[in-house]
Amino acid sequence: MIVCSCQQISDLDIELALLDILNQPEAPIPTPGVVYRHMQKRMQCCGCAPLAVDVIYARLESLERKGLICPYRSFSTRERLLRLQQQRRKQPANTPADEYESCE
Ligand code: FES
Repeated sequence: MIVCSCQQISDLDIELALLDILNQPEAPIPTPGVVYRHMQKRMQCCGCAPLAVDVIYARLESLERKGLICPYRSFSTRERLLRLQQQRRKQPANTPADEYESCE
């Protein structure tokens, strides 16, 4: 399934990127921006951001079920991602210069 039509990113691309990211010793929160940068891509219209977050959540659970990532790391990452998303929703509308950051 294509998640980002601007950059031609699929759900499988996101899953593979998550595996790489979460196996780093100091893994960052895998926001869409972090995942896209890992793939050396950059969001353009940001229209895929909500779907990318949903796919990241689903793939975290899937990787955990497959035993490819530690359940604690998966849970912790989902919690941190959820908190980050909630904080961003509370922030006032961003200026156009911040638009890229709001995609993450
Ligand atoms: S659809 Fe992903 S950046 Fe446009």
